[in-house]
Amino acid sequence: MYGMAGEHLTTNVRKELMEGIIYKQLSWFDSETKAPGMLTNIMAEDMSALNGMTTETISVMVQGFLGMILSFVLALYFSWRTALFTLLCSPILMIGVFGMSRLQWGNKGGSGTHGTKEADDYSKANALLSDSIMNYKTVMSFGQKNINYLIERFNEHLVSPSQQRIKNAHKSGILFGYSQASRVIFVGLAFWIGSRMICNYDVKKADVFLAVFVLFSAGFGVGTSFSNLPSISKAKASAQKIFAIIDEKSTLDIREETPDQLTKIKAGKIEFTDVCFRYPSRSKNVLNQFSMTIPANAKIALVGHSGCGKSTITNLILRFYELQSGSISIDGTKLNKYNIKALRR
Ligand SMILES: Nc1ncnc2c1ncn2[C@@H]1O[C@H](COP(=O)(O)OP(=O)(O)OP(=O)(O)O)[C@@H](O)[C@H]1O
Ligand SMILES: [Mg+2]
Repeated sequence: MYGMAGEHLTTNVRKELMEGIIYKQLSWFDSETKAPGMLTNIMAEDMSALNGMTTETISVMVQGFLGMILSFVLALYFSWRTALFTLLCSPILMIGVFGMSRLQWGNKGGSGTHGTKEADDYSKANALLSDSIMNYKTVMSFGQKNINYLIERFNEHLVSPSQQRIKNAHKSGILFGYSQASRVIFVGLAFWIGSRMICNYDVKKADVFLAVFVLFSAGFGVGTSFSNLPSISKAKASAQKIFAIIDEKSTLDIREETPDQLTKIKAGKIEFTDVCFRYPSRSKNVLNQFSMTIPANAKIALVGHSGCGKSTITNLILRFYELQSGSISIDGTKLNKYNIKALRR
């Protein structure tokens, strides 16, 4: 049931996230944190962390708590003295199992590292890799030196996560040792308490054994269910990232249409008047007080060296970016009076 509800919920969030990304204004994608590698990472890793919270975690926690209450009641029923004394020792076992399960979560192929610096470094390495693959021709055309530089940058991003993992390995060793020992210590203590009960009080051996065994199983279950708490904090960090994208309003959403928008371009005379423009991610202007007129029905060619702003001019006519100052008009009407879909058709 939890699994089904969780899957439905995350499918809806996934759809909303996809819509949220697709309908953002073009300049939104220019920022380093919105690189294709970063976004695919959010789509894949963060979405599955969110799914983890809604499906596995809640059901396991409910199981754990119910199991704990039921077994304690059963243990009290069989031998209340043994149950109470053994319960005092149960933290020894719970801490061990909790530590051990955290270790397993942490080792699940990096999925236990959300929201940490380690995860950030992995995302940066991912983004660099996907950018390099997407711009493969450019990367190659700059020669071996450029390739070596990119490999070096990629390796740099992996240094700190690998150091962190080595540090964690020592912690893991200690935790593993403790968790293994804690089970034996707990069983030993529980049986010792049981034997004291049998010697000092008139308790049946079978009841003592049942009480001890029930508590042992419960302690184990609760430790495992609590171990999912770290995945809740991971899911929270992921949810923050996901909902920040969904909630951020697009400054130019093509779905928003108002009746006063012009949906037809009559003649098609395009006029640039004193246009100043720079890309939001850059500090330098690409166009400075730029003016030109393209007559209706004329075919023109923009000629200039690479990077002089030819594509930028086309981007501006299609309203992919907003101007800093000046104006662009078609048939004497400012660009923002036109319906975006009509403009780009
Ligand atoms: N999305 C962007 N974000 C930041 N800067 C950009 C972006 N796109 C282009 N630029 C910069 O704006 C300037 C103009 O680029 P533009 O693409 O318009 O040149 P172009 O004349 O079309 O060049 P080419 O002939 O190589 O296609 C360049 O310096 C370029 O680096
Ligand atoms: Mg171009």
